[in-house]
Amino acid sequence: MAEEERPALEVKRLVKTFGGKENPVTVLDGVDLTLARGDFVAVMGPSGSGKSTLLHLIAGLLTCDGGEIRVGGERISEMDDAAVTRFRRRRIGLVFQDFNLIPTLTAEENIALPLLLDRKPPGPAVIEEVLARFALTPRRTYLPDRLSGGERQRVAIARALVTRPDIVLADEPTGNLDSPAGRAFCDLLSAMNQEEACTILMVSHDPVVAAAARRVHLLKDGRFVDAFDTEHDPARVASRYLEAMGETPAAPHR
Ligand SMILES: Nc1ncnc2c1ncn2[C@@H]1O[C@H](COP(=O)(O)OP(=O)(O)O)[C@@H](O)[C@H]1O
Ligand SMILES: [Mg+2]
Repeated sequence: MAEEERPALEVKRLVKTFGGKENPVTVLDGVDLTLARGDFVAVMGPSGSGKSTLLHLIAGLLTCDGGEIRVGGERISEMDDAAVTRFRRRRIGLVFQDFNLIPTLTAEENIALPLLLDRKPPGPAVIEEVLARFALTPRRTYLPDRLSGGERQRVAIARALVTRPDIVLADEPTGNLDSPAGRAFCDLLSAMNQEEACTILMVSHDPVVAAAARRVHLLKDGRFVDAFDTEHDPARVASRYLEAMGETPAAPHR
């Protein structure tokens, strides 16, 4: 298959075990997941089910114990550290709950950072456009500690998208935002997915957040146990989630 025809993400029979030989704990036990280009998938699962571990493996921040991972057709699970670092910077966008912004750089500098690290400084027009798109133009010279939570998260997503990555990985991206900022952030992710066809894999335990995705995959006991279309309906996501986890869904409100 030519590289551009390959899915944005292919995870096959992925295994990850923590702990030594004495006390091994297998967190992921044969996980399969494929995202087509332009897909928007949310992974849900109980706390400790391995959601963050899965994202860290896909980002090449952890190494797996079995299986393979391809991002944009390239086998990240086989790369050495230097290659993985370069690949991640160019081809993967990361958005974490705690934003991970550099405190001594302005909003604008944080956004440009992946390109600067790659010695491809963006032209002024590119930065202007990104700042405008994420409603950050008036805040461009602010350091992160002067930004609101929502603004910080917009800087983080702008930084993740500035390289036009094959895939954006977001781990509980609204976890530190209040509900209006969380909702605004979900709307922004949906817009990025629909208008720019960027591929997004997001982890969240919140049905309202997960409903921004098109599809949900449920992780339990080291495997995906169910997948369904969200229809962008949080109530549907919540009841399917509870059902798959073996809990009785609460009586529907409508
Ligand atoms: N570096 C690590 N060393 C040992 N155990 C770990 C490590 N990282 C995660 N775990 C364990 O793996 C399991 C899954 O963790 P995690 O992926 O963070 O779950 P989730 O994000 O779904 O809450 C947990 O039991 C956690 O304690
Ligand atoms: Mg987690």
